[in-house]
Order: sequence, then C-alpha cells, then structure tokens
Amino acid sequence: MFPPVLILLSGFLCHVAIAGRTCPKPDELPFSTVVPLKQSYEPGEQIVFSCRPGYVSRGGIRRFTCPLTGMWPINTLKCMPRVCPFAGILENGTVRYTTFEYPNTISFSCHTGFYLKGASSARCTEEGKWSPDIPVCAPITCPPPPIPKFANLSVYKPLAGNNSFYGGKAVFTCSPHHAMFGSDTITCTEHGNWTKLPECRGESNNSWERRASLCPFPSRPDNGFVNYPANPVLFYKDTATFGCHETYSLDGPEEVECSKFGNWSAQPSCKASCKLPVKKATVIYEGERVAIQNRFKNGMLHGQKVSFFCKNKEKKCSYTEDAQCIDGTIEIPKCFKEHSSLAFWKTDASDVKPC
Ligand SMILES: *[C@@H]1O[C@H](CO)[C@@H](O)[C@H](O)[C@H]1NC(C)=O
Ligand SMILES: *[C@@H]1O[C@H](CO)[C@@H](O)[C@H](O)[C@H]1NC(C)=O
Ligand SMILES: *[C@@H]1O[C@H](CO)[C@@H](O)[C@H](O)[C@H]1NC(C)=O
Ligand SMILES: *[C@@H]1O[C@H](CO)[C@@H](O)[C@H](O)[C@H]1NC(C)=O
Ligand SMILES: *[C@@H]1O[C@H](CO)[C@@H](O)[C@H](O)[C@H]1NC(C)=O
Ligand SMILES: *[C@@H]1O[C@H](CO)[C@@H](O)[C@H](O)[C@H]1NC(C)=O
Repeated sequence: MFPPVLILLSGFLCHVAIAGRTCPKPDELPFSTVVPLKQSYEPGEQIVFSCRPGYVSRGGIRRFTCPLTGMWPINTLKCMPRVCPFAGILENGTVRYTTFEYPNTISFSCHTGFYLKGASSARCTEEGKWSPDIPVCAPITCPPPPIPKFANLSVYKPLAGNNSFYGGKAVFTCSPHHAMFGSDTITCTEHGNWTKLPECRGESNNSWERRASLCPFPSRPDNGFVNYPANPVLFYKDTATFGCHETYSLDGPEEVECSKFGNWSAQPSCKASCKLPVKKATVIYEGERVAIQNRFKNGMLHGQKVSFFCKNKEKKCSYTEDAQCIDGTIEIPKCFKEHSSLAFWKTDASDVKPC
C-alpha cells in the first residue's frame, strides 16, 4: 500500500511531466525541412530535420525530442547544395558559370568554326548531375563544293575527310573562252555551306550568255587602223590593237581586250596633230625649257601641252600660260608675242625674270 502522501506526490509529479513546458516551432534552418512542422510541441514529441532535395548534410538527418524544459537542443545540421561535376572547360568553346552547385545553370558557346552539338545550357539537378548532358563543340564542315558549269576546281584541299572546315576555300577557273562572273573563290561559312558560287559564261547558243563574252568586231578608227585575230567570232580576253596614220596619234590604249561584258575595254580614236603654231619660241615642256621649233619640228601630237612665256610690262617680269594641242588645234595664249630677230634690242619674255 502506498501512503496517501506518496500517491499525492507522484500524482503531482505526473501532472508536472504532462503539463511540462511545450517546445516552440523550431528555428528555420536553411535548405532543410522539419517533420512534423507545428506551432508547438508537447514534451516528448519528436521532430526530424532533413535536407531538402538538392542539399546534403554531413551527419545525415537529425532527430530531436521536445524536452521538459521546452527548449530545443542546439541543431548543428548544415544543409549544403549538391555540387555537380566540374564543367568549367569546353573544348573549342566557352562555359559561363558562377558555381557548379544545385540549382545553378551554366551556359555554353563554341569558338568560331565550331558549333554546339547539344544544349546551350545545363542545370545542376537535385541528384547532382548535369541536365541535359554537357554538349560538345564540333567543327563546322562544308561538303565538297558543287562545281559551276564551264568551271574547274583549281584549288581545293579538303581537310576534314572529303569535307572542308569552316574558313576553307576553293578556287574555280573558267574553261577557255568563258568569263567569270562573281568571285572565283568560295569559302566554307559558319552555316556549313559555301559562299556564292561564281558563274562561268561563254560560248553557248543562249543569247544572253553569248552577250556575256562575245565582243563585236572592233570598228576602225577614223585616220587609223585596228588589228584583231582572224576568227569568226571574238571572245572574252581576245585583244585588238589600234594604230593611227601619220600625223595622227592614238587617244586611248594601243591594245584593248574583249571584256566579260561583251564590250571592249576601251574605244581608242585617232586625233590629229597640230602644226607648229609659231616659228620660234622658248617654251616649257614637261618641266623643261625647250625651243619649240626644235622639239616639235614635226608638229605637236594630240594632247601635248606647252607653256608659253609672256611679259608683264608694268612689273617688267615674265609669266607663263599653257597651250594644248587638241585634235589638230592649239590656241596660242593672247599674251604671247613672238620675238622678232630684227628687234635685237628687245629681250625675249623667256629671258625676263619671272614675276
Ligand atoms: C579544338 O580543340 C582541340 C583540342 O583541344 C585543339 O587541338 C584544337 O586546336 C582546337 N581548335 C581550335 C580551332 O581552337
Ligand atoms: C570520300 O569520298 C570517296 C568517294 O565518294 C569515298 O569513297 C570515301 O569513302 C570518302 N571518304 C571519307 C573520309 O568520307
Ligand atoms: C578542267 O581541267 C581539265 C584538265 O586540266 C580539262 O581537261 C577540262 O577541259 C577542264 N574543264 C573545264 C570545264 O574547264
Ligand atoms: C547558307 O546557309 C544560311 C543559313 O541557312 C543561309 O542563310 C544562307 O543563305 C546560305 N548561303 C548560301 C550561299 O546558300
Ligand atoms: C549551237 O547551235 C549550233 C547550231 O544550231 C550547234 O551545232 C551547236 O552544237 C550549239 N552549241 C551549243 C553549245 O549548244
Ligand atoms: C562594258 O559594259 C559594262 C557592263 O554593261 C559597263 O559597266 C562598262 O562600262 C562597259 N565598258 C566600256 C569600256 O564601255
């Protein structure tokens, strides 16, 4: 039999235990969950702390029982993000990242000449794996280039098997009597295709193509002649040479070429020479003082230019004015006075000091 006092005492103690202080809602711990989560816990109640998906702690989970004191023990649980495998280097590419931890995303790009084979970004998952998989940078290649009609591949070195890498080049030449339209060189682009192919146009029964490289027979210039190959037709790159009869000179190049547009590179003409405009004079020709009657005994050619000396009477000095032979005509400067050998006491303008 228990003494009544003892019964009373134990009853009191029981009451204290049952009515002990409740524990509060536990402090939040970063990246963790508490089960069960309540506003308060009776003494003796258990809670379990564990890390959220994507986070781990060194000692695993933590269990606590609400003590009579109503104060949770110190919780040393530390949840750290999972770390995905190192992915800071992408061959022939670049990775942009802050960290490789959950739940970060990293992104990829490839250097010029390479393309991304795979996704342009990956996320570190709860399991600590990259999703989707890390891509690779694969070299851009172009298939062997198509060859235009009437063309030959003159330079082509495929370095990627039968294909070319980005930046690879191929050079075409046109068959004889065909003219190149566009660039003769094509380049493997970043899209894995080639830049625009050139066209070779030439002999063909298509009138538009014919116009592309057949030139009309060049016409003979007045007072001159033209020579060209004795062929039934004149093609791209055929040449014709021009010349002029005596006392005429060529205005334009001696040789012209049939252009790829079906016209001649130039249309030279023959221009008349000029008769010597004065009997005697000292003039400047190509920077030198010459006696016009000696230097241009046979007249002046079209285009030739001399400077005559004139006198400034007030200032007693000399200056020059130009005269040019244009197709048989030369205008003597009005200020020029031909020196008479009879007037020996007068000084020729060319001997007077310059103004
Ligand atoms: C691509 O990467 C490989 C391997 O690192 C290297 O040998 C090559 O030079 C790189 N290519 C370019 C164009 O950077
Ligand atoms: C290149 O092309 C030839 C002919 O089409 C073929 O036989 C060969 O297998 C190709 N080589 C490669 C590396 O693709
Ligand atoms: C290409 O070159 C070969 C050999 O040099 C030649 O026989 C052929 O006529 C050329 N073809 C064209 C379209 O120029
Ligand atoms: C090459 O491919 C790109 C992208 O598809 C396209 O825009 C371009 O026109 C192509 N170039 C040629 C010359 O076909
Ligand atoms: C052009 O036409 C002539 C006669 O009509 C023919 O003999 C020749 O083969 C044709 N040439 C081409 C390139 O089609
Ligand atoms: C020849 O024709 C082309 C195209 O029509 C033109 O641009 C060029 O100026 C012409 N050349 C001459 C010398 O007339």
